[in-house]
Amino acid sequence: MNSIKIHKHDIVVVGGGLAGMRAAIEASRYADVAIVTQTHPVRSHSGAAQGGVNAPLANHPKSKDDSPDKHAFDTVKGSDYLADQDAVVIFTSDAPERIYELEHWGCPFSRFEDGRIAQRPFGGAGYPRTCYAADRTGHVMLHTLFEQCVKNKVRLYLDRQVIDLAVEDGRSRGIMALNLLDGTLEGFQAKSVIVGTGGLGRLFARTTNGLTTTGLGMAISYWNNVPLKDMEFIQFHPTGLFGANILMTEGARGEGGYLVNNKGERFMKRYAPEKMELGPRDIVARSIWTEIEEGLGFEGGYVNLDLRHLGKEKILERLPSIRELAIDFVGVDMIEEPVPIVPTQHYAMGGIDTDKDGATKLPGFYAAGEVACVSVHGANRLGGNSLLGTLVFGQRSGKAAGEYAKSLDAMPDANGLFDGVAQKWTDKFESWFSNENGENPMKIREELGDIMEKAAFIFRNGKEMGEALPKIRALKERFKNISLKAKEKKYNIRLIRTIDLEGMLDLGEVIVAGALAREESRGSHYRRDFEKRDDDNWLKHTIALPGVEGPKLSYRPVTITKWQPMERKY
Ligand code: FUM
Repeated sequence: MNSIKIHKHDIVVVGGGLAGMRAAIEASRYADVAIVTQTHPVRSHSGAAQGGVNAPLANHPKSKDDSPDKHAFDTVKGSDYLADQDAVVIFTSDAPERIYELEHWGCPFSRFEDGRIAQRPFGGAGYPRTCYAADRTGHVMLHTLFEQCVKNKVRLYLDRQVIDLAVEDGRSRGIMALNLLDGTLEGFQAKSVIVGTGGLGRLFARTTNGLTTTGLGMAISYWNNVPLKDMEFIQFHPTGLFGANILMTEGARGEGGYLVNNKGERFMKRYAPEKMELGPRDIVARSIWTEIEEGLGFEGGYVNLDLRHLGKEKILERLPSIRELAIDFVGVDMIEEPVPIVPTQHYAMGGIDTDKDGATKLPGFYAAGEVACVSVHGANRLGGNSLLGTLVFGQRSGKAAGEYAKSLDAMPDANGLFDGVAQKWTDKFESWFSNENGENPMKIREELGDIMEKAAFIFRNGKEMGEALPKIRALKERFKNISLKAKEKKYNIRLIRTIDLEGMLDLGEVIVAGALAREESRGSHYRRDFEKRDDDNWLKHTIALPGVEGPKLSYRPVTITKWQPMERKY
């Protein structure tokens, strides 16, 4: 094999979404930075974020007493006490600065009459603290950060699918990418690497996540022995559009929307009498599913999100995008009719194990955003804390990676290392392309989605998870004999999806193994065979590394600094 092309930058950021761009902007204060990404930054999945970003700004008339400490408490309680409290305090303390910085960069947030950034109530929060731009918050944030990347001369490599790390002498030396435009492999040598590739929703048959959210960033780390943390905690957003799996923002309930069963009853009064529709996501999603299971849903399996009482003017001002989405995808105009919704996979609380500065166990390798687990979301993330995580931990990891890069001497020649990694992948692609009689990998992917949907759902039990694990392992065996019929060099989507699938199978195994081992119910992980939270035995993080016969699980204590675990009531 001829030597591959190698690009050199002090810092390489993988992924051009909110976390990646925020990290790149910060890192550019220290050194030369490039973003390597499959999708153009402003088309990243972060753009699908609708309802807002949390920060205790105390702008809302009902949030005069809000503070970082109160935001931290809500986050810890929402996490079902699995979040590390020292990290949460940093998270909520940094929040106002990150939002005002975005404001100064020109982010067009919605405003109150007095000109301050508007805030709306969100689930599980003691005060209205979710800053928003109608229901297009992720979109406007992406554009704001992209402008800053351009201003700060962050170099962009588009149409690159990152497929591996380059590791030597126990240190990160860069990444390996597939150039989608011509099918060649390219090395990116760097002193530090920051991964911000987002979540893994596409492991599930029904998800609000876009096509690129396949968890590959997590899988690549796992393949290179960088531990994953708390992977069993999967969030189902209470209000996915029934039949289309599109997010209907929590902002709709924040603005006063009702959840209604087939008796016309606002059933949340039986599950979260104080917070009602604004309970935390794990509880609201379970409540909806319980209604459906008990025959109180509508035919096909959904309940209604009723917004009609908000009136046309408010819907058009605050929720214009979801109105259009519901009209376009299921033909329902929320001004006139209730919207059919069902809980839908939305977020991974787990991810690459990092500290509060995005550092992993591998020197020079950082992660931020949904791909990472700090952990501030614990067993259940509060709505609006995801976008905040991209800003806070994007900034912190950019700074840490920048300082690390600056502390190193010139980059040593690593061409041999990159050629070795490239050879491994070239051989693998060749075996997929040359196998004429193997299985279609997309069939395996479809089966994985169904297995995950059943075993790692809102309600779980040992029997189903115990059956799922050998099924996933059987899929991994079948993957060894796949055929890739599409052989084109340019933008070979089948090839990208197959690389994704190899990672998805490993992540599915990690999720189910972690969930099966955790014999309790906590946050999003609700087991019908272990219905109580068990702090004596399970107030701990799950750490997963690849082992000979599947994931090797170990555990690490949760950091409790201020708030002793209590029963969660809403
Ligand atoms: O409901 C939403 O707008 C989603 C927000 C989030 O996941 O944080």
